[in-house]
Amino acid sequence: MTTWNLQGTLNHLLICGGSSCRKRKGEEVAEAIEHEIEKQGAEGLIHTTVTRCNGRCSDACVVISYPEGVWYKEMTPKSGKALVRKLLKGERLDEQVLYTYEGGLSAVDERGTKGKKK
Ligand code: FES
Repeated sequence: MTTWNLQGTLNHLLICGGSSCRKRKGEEVAEAIEHEIEKQGAEGLIHTTVTRCNGRCSDACVVISYPEGVWYKEMTPKSGKALVRKLLKGERLDEQVLYTYEGGLSAVDERGTKGKKK
């Protein structure tokens, strides 16, 4: 069992590992994010966790970033790598933003009904 040293951690990425996201390259997205974290030497800054379904399957693959609380949609291995680079600069990956707690759904997703209903 690994005990993660949280000292210095700046971001926690929740990478959806539910079946819909896995069908849309979720495992490759997770691998790309983890590879980019290593490449950038950011293992101590960005922590990742693969989750179960986050309830937004139509937006697969979903990645959620804390502490800022930004939900990203339709993530690919390429955008996953870009997300890591953006986070390290303290920025968002604007083109993939689905939802923010302060701003709600992005304009593209104002219909708000995509995804699995709970
Ligand atoms: S499987 Fe990823 S949001 Fe449902």
